[in-house]
Amino acid sequence: MDPRVLTERVKVLGGVDWHRRLFDALIPLPDGTSYNAYLVRGSEKTALLDTADPRTGGELMGQLASQPDGIDYIVAQHAEQDHTGMLPEVLARFPEAQVLTTPKGKDMLIALLHLDEGRIRAVEDDEVVSLGDRTLRFLYTPWVHWPETMLTYMPEERILFTCDFFGAHYATSQVCVEGDAAVVGAAKRYYAEIMMPFRKAIEKHLQRLAGLDIAMIAPSHGPVWDEPRLILEPYQDWVTGPPQNIALIPFVSMHGSTAEMVDYLVTALVREGVHVKPFDLTVTDLGELAMALVDAGTVILGSPTVLGGAHPQAAYAASLANALRPKARFASVIGSYGWTAGAARTLAGMVSGLRVELLDPVEVKGKPRAEDFAALDRLALAVAGKHREQQLGVGTTE
Ligand code: FEO
Repeated sequence: MDPRVLTERVKVLGGVDWHRRLFDALIPLPDGTSYNAYLVRGSEKTALLDTADPRTGGELMGQLASQPDGIDYIVAQHAEQDHTGMLPEVLARFPEAQVLTTPKGKDMLIALLHLDEGRIRAVEDDEVVSLGDRTLRFLYTPWVHWPETMLTYMPEERILFTCDFFGAHYATSQVCVEGDAAVVGAAKRYYAEIMMPFRKAIEKHLQRLAGLDIAMIAPSHGPVWDEPRLILEPYQDWVTGPPQNIALIPFVSMHGSTAEMVDYLVTALVREGVHVKPFDLTVTDLGELAMALVDAGTVILGSPTVLGGAHPQAAYAASLANALRPKARFASVIGSYGWTAGAARTLAGMVSGLRVELLDPVEVKGKPRAEDFAALDRLALAVAGKHREQQLGVGTTE
């Protein structure tokens, strides 16, 4: 129950959710997660930044019960319930506390939690609130990943509190990042699943943050980045770097013909110098697929035709890719059908949100023959040629 110490004036509260395996009834959590709140004690006032998910709410309330000082401000950087779910209880426990959030955050807190409007004050972008010898500067950062989000910068200790931004679903007993590769991997998964659709907004926020002197980045999921470059550099690459010379092939096969086509295409692409990642959708962790979408230059969906359209597993993958809006520049579809084709047309229609050039699909009646393998060879050549034209290399964040 003891809070963890980040600095003399900043403690990490909240809870580590070691065993949670699914978020939003959608996102796999292979490494669990945490819901961090931060208690910042100034010489005159005390602020709590974010609260916690009610799943670990008992821990938070236990930590707050042992705080000798009251709480003057509760900063709601993001209205989603994994950070605000305990707000009603914290407000009840500290009746003098005032919630500080963005104007949109205020509306959302009232709608989601039925908070008393009189206890919430909307802050301005760049507004500074004094805690005495510590100050909190609020930076609006809409769309990371909701419209109301903001960050908080404490210049005296050069700490940037970021809620979901730069977070990782990664349960650990460490306060700061240890084992960089595992945490960066979890952060990439988090970026892919949560932040990637908002790349354009995030690009602008990264530019703004470049003007800040940051010693630590304190997110509300996962450990604190006490070497900010460990997360800032990969983020810059994920957000603004070009896609890489990688073709993803998410596929499903019912009787083996589509799988045979995928196997052939994998070999043909490798022969043409393209890195390939096939994903059998019947066993794939969708988080792994989302991570791979961060870097891929081309996405080729493999699906048999089922009832005149795509197999539902392939349709799900297409819908996921369309929603996540990765940087991929090319797409195609391959697959087998029994008596009528249709998967390619259906899937192409499902990725209209992607800014990709669609390469000729390869649809085969039954089991592939020599002419079908020749069509797959042509597709591999086309992918390799397009990647060369666009000078897609293979980066370091694969
Ligand atoms: Fe961690 Fe968007 O909530």
